[in-house]
Amino acid sequence: MVYTQQLPRIIISGTGSAVPPHRLSNPDLEKMVDTSNDWIIERTGISERAISTQYEPLPVLGAVAGHVALKSAGLTAKDIGLIIFANHKSGTFAVPDNATIVQYLLGAECPAHDQNGGCTGGIIAESAGYNALAGKLYAHLMRNPEEEIPHDVLNFKVLVLAGDTLSHVLNYKDRATCILLSDGVGAAVLQFSLDQTVLEKKYGFLGCYLNADGSLGPNLWWKSGVGPQFSSVDGNLTYGGHEAQVKRPDFHMDGQVVFKPAVRMMTEAFEKIVEQEHIDKSSPEYSQMMIDPHQANWRIVDAVRKRTPFAPEQVYAEGIKKYGNNSLGTYMVAQDELHVGGHLYPGRLLAKVAFGAGFIWGADLHRWALNRPKPSQITSDAEKQALVRMYYSKYSEWVSQLCA
Ligand code: UT7
Repeated sequence: MVYTQQLPRIIISGTGSAVPPHRLSNPDLEKMVDTSNDWIIERTGISERAISTQYEPLPVLGAVAGHVALKSAGLTAKDIGLIIFANHKSGTFAVPDNATIVQYLLGAECPAHDQNGGCTGGIIAESAGYNALAGKLYAHLMRNPEEEIPHDVLNFKVLVLAGDTLSHVLNYKDRATCILLSDGVGAAVLQFSLDQTVLEKKYGFLGCYLNADGSLGPNLWWKSGVGPQFSSVDGNLTYGGHEAQVKRPDFHMDGQVVFKPAVRMMTEAFEKIVEQEHIDKSSPEYSQMMIDPHQANWRIVDAVRKRTPFAPEQVYAEGIKKYGNNSLGTYMVAQDELHVGGHLYPGRLLAKVAFGAGFIWGADLHRWALNRPKPSQITSDAEKQALVRMYYSKYSEWVSQLCA
């Protein structure tokens, strides 16, 4: 079957982010654990980390990031056909999904679900959003190959969220982890485009590469607090009933062991996505591309950059200094900052690359379709704070029903 009609491309049509304004500085941490400002800056590049207050739980940050992305795309919550929220269940609830709470807060009328994926979860969620759009189109083409694509297919849009509130999980006596991790959520809207320039110049989502190696799992994990527990002395699995349930998730990271695979995996993911999407390494678009890496540690980002031909300003890592490592939020928040800051323009290649628990690593590649947003599409920090108050109030009403 040869399709005579022009098929739409899938683009990011809006971006958003919600990073809590409260900061935990290196001097603050010096008072809490045996560490120093100099050590943290030299080994991680972090000066301070964004920490959520009780008024900024994960679903509220998700709703604010989603709201900002919808405004950026010129849409309302009612326009959205699916919400996917990548997170590590670092909010109050393991069930129901944080995505469904966000759906309620935003007033959207669509399916919504969470997904994990370690710190690569934002890339996986974006790819899942792409697949949902592509799947809708494919189903129509399979049913009615001759018919024009109907509006309900062309108007289908996906809101992708990714982020965590890891400060709720950390042990602030463990200097191996509490100096690194933080809170924040990034967002993107995916939709079809039949814009002539988008079609001709092949703008939009190009593809995703993913890989995993479960043998490295013991180097980065936290317990859910339910199910059979294991002894930290001999590793034996036991089921001790209610008494064995742990109160705190017990975050564990072998930082030094994680470091080298992280560099190798992010470099591999970048090389693979460039090869997979047949990007010509001698082309101007390759030499001018922007890389948006998972900002786990500035040294990891810098080591990956040194394995590419790109200048430091082409590998965005502004977030790690001011926010810390907000897990699968880092590169999604950065994508919003790159868009709002005018670093992305129509035709510019953008590669997001990440690794994380699992281990799972991967990359996605876009040929950016949007111009720099107009002031009317941008949400100021003050407006974000007002949104936090609005969504927190609605969230607390929702929570109060649990006790009714
Ligand atoms: O997105 C989540 C995925 N996680 C990561 O990507 C983490 C990757 N790993 C890292 O970012 C780094 O390994 C850390 C920042 C966690 C640690 O840095 P490092 O350069 O690998 O330090 P290290 O563990 O090799 O420790 C070096 C020294 C040791 O002292 P000695 O034995 O040389 O005397 C540690 O005891 O630094 C000491 N140390 C600290 N000193 C002050 C370890 N942690 C600290 C600390 N403050 N917080």
